[in-house]
Amino acid sequence: MQLSHIKLKFEQELKNEFPLTEIGSFFYILTEEFSGKKRIDVALDPHFELSEELRLKFEKALERLKLHEPIQYITGNTEFYGRKFLVNKNVLIPRPETEELVGWIVSDHQKDKNLKVLDIGTGTGCIPISLKMELENANISTYDISSQAIELARKNAELNSAEIQFSELNILETKKLDQKFDIIVSNPPYVRELEKDSMQKNVLKHEPDLALYVADNDALIFYRKITQLAKESLKEGGKLYFEINQYLSEETKLLVEQFGFEAELKKDIFGNYRMLKAVKL
Ligand SMILES: C[S@@+](CC[C@H](N)C(=O)[O-])C[C@H]1O[C@@H](n2cnc3c(N)ncnc32)[C@H](O)[C@@H]1O
Repeated sequence: MQLSHIKLKFEQELKNEFPLTEIGSFFYILTEEFSGKKRIDVALDPHFELSEELRLKFEKALERLKLHEPIQYITGNTEFYGRKFLVNKNVLIPRPETEELVGWIVSDHQKDKNLKVLDIGTGTGCIPISLKMELENANISTYDISSQAIELARKNAELNSAEIQFSELNILETKKLDQKFDIIVSNPPYVRELEKDSMQKNVLKHEPDLALYVADNDALIFYRKITQLAKESLKEGGKLYFEINQYLSEETKLLVEQFGFEAELKKDIFGNYRMLKAVKL
């Protein structure tokens, strides 16, 4: 079978599920992943004959796309802050708004050296690994309740040659952090059950519940716990950075202020309040 025939097959079989432009982008991502050929190579050689092995890979990917599995789980990787990260079904696929959170921290601390940083809820390790690569000589630790997430994040640290301290830990059951930090950062679970209806099929069916959801009646549980721990464990003038639920931005800010922090909200590129910074006074 020729590559152009596979493209046609993708368009025909996925047209009721996705817009044509998205189908095209799935096809080119997979072509590059499976054969190393970029879009321009495909344009120059559309009748490239596929080996049986390659054809089967496309067929399997097509079946997974029909089930709305995210393309990143199919290829097994994604890009975050300009670097490659492995992903699997045990971790959340890193989001652009989290890159914006990392960007905020980096621009605030460009000139600082030897910072001690804690990330809570590591997932792929995208936050701690990016910070390690961007902040000079930073000492970075990270926690996650999921041993599978820690396992993958370790691989990502290795892939990016970043030295990070990983620990498996349930933050909600942690009474005290045993070190002092300059920065504590977290993108914790914050989606309420009631928001599930508005979520896309690929997130709902395929990304881990553990990474995403909180109970409707205590949506800020992670923010309360982490702020309480940060109050004790941040150095004077230390900073807490959160990715937040855009529908709960004011409530989250108020909560953090009640612990005596000076808090500031920040909008993402779409104009929604998705980040919060709090300074320990
Ligand atoms: C929203 S995901 C964020 C992952 C990653 N930091 C990112 O930004 O892509 C939240 C992470 O918190 C972890 N988590 C959930 N409950 C936790 C708990 N009680 N203690 C520690 N980590 C927890 C999940 O396993 C998941 O990896």
